[in-house]
Amino acid sequence: MGRRAVVRCASPHPFTGRNIQGFKPDMTTANSMTGFRVESNPPEVDLVGVSNLLEIVGMRARSIDAMAQAIKASTEVVVVHDDRKMLVGFGRLVSDGMYYGTLWDIAVHPNVQKRGVGKAIVSRLLAKCRSLELTMVGLFTALHNRQFYESSGFAMLDYIHAMTLDLKQSEH
Ligand SMILES: CC(C)(COP(=O)(O)OP(=O)(O)OC[C@H]1O[C@@H](n2cnc3c(N)ncnc32)[C@H](O)[C@@H]1OP(=O)(O)O)[C@@H](O)C(=O)NCCC(=O)NCCS
Repeated sequence: MGRRAVVRCASPHPFTGRNIQGFKPDMTTANSMTGFRVESNPPEVDLVGVSNLLEIVGMRARSIDAMAQAIKASTEVVVVHDDRKMLVGFGRLVSDGMYYGTLWDIAVHPNVQKRGVGKAIVSRLLAKCRSLELTMVGLFTALHNRQFYESSGFAMLDYIHAMTLDLKQSEH
């Protein structure tokens, strides 16, 4: 067993400056998709579980401390646990709270993929976007995930292409 590291989520309204550690979000909600517990902005997030999950699905490795900061600064965080309380799903929204939102780190454990967990995560994050009345929400993804996001209403636009600069790679 790895060390237990947890982080408390930001207030559900970080734009008001109420980003108080230990504040219990009033928007914490759970539902009971059979065998899974889906939570938005849980009071605590299992950082080792998140880090392991992201690595298992092939995303870049995370430092626990950096991920704690990233989660705190996120607008909305969704976690999914199975009936053995193992973290099997994760995703987060980063937004300016007015115009734009971006989904990041959407991940579902390979053992439970194709059972609706990913869609449930995206649905929670989109509900937050709608409640904030954002103008647009976007994301970066590999082409093979196209159908997954299309099933939640996203569209790939021919006239928009992702451009990125990997700042860690370009550091000298
Ligand atoms: C992409 C990912 C999050 C999907 O999660 P999931 O729980 O398996 O997806 P769901 O079961 O909720 O699927 C929702 C819909 O997408 C479809 N879908 C899911 N994965 C798909 C795939 N690889 N190809 C085609 N369709 C797919 C499902 O058939 C379903 O369609 P429906 O709503 O018409 O029934 C998951 O496969 C994953 O973690 N992949 C590795 C990490 C990754 O690439 N994350 C995305 C980073 S942007």
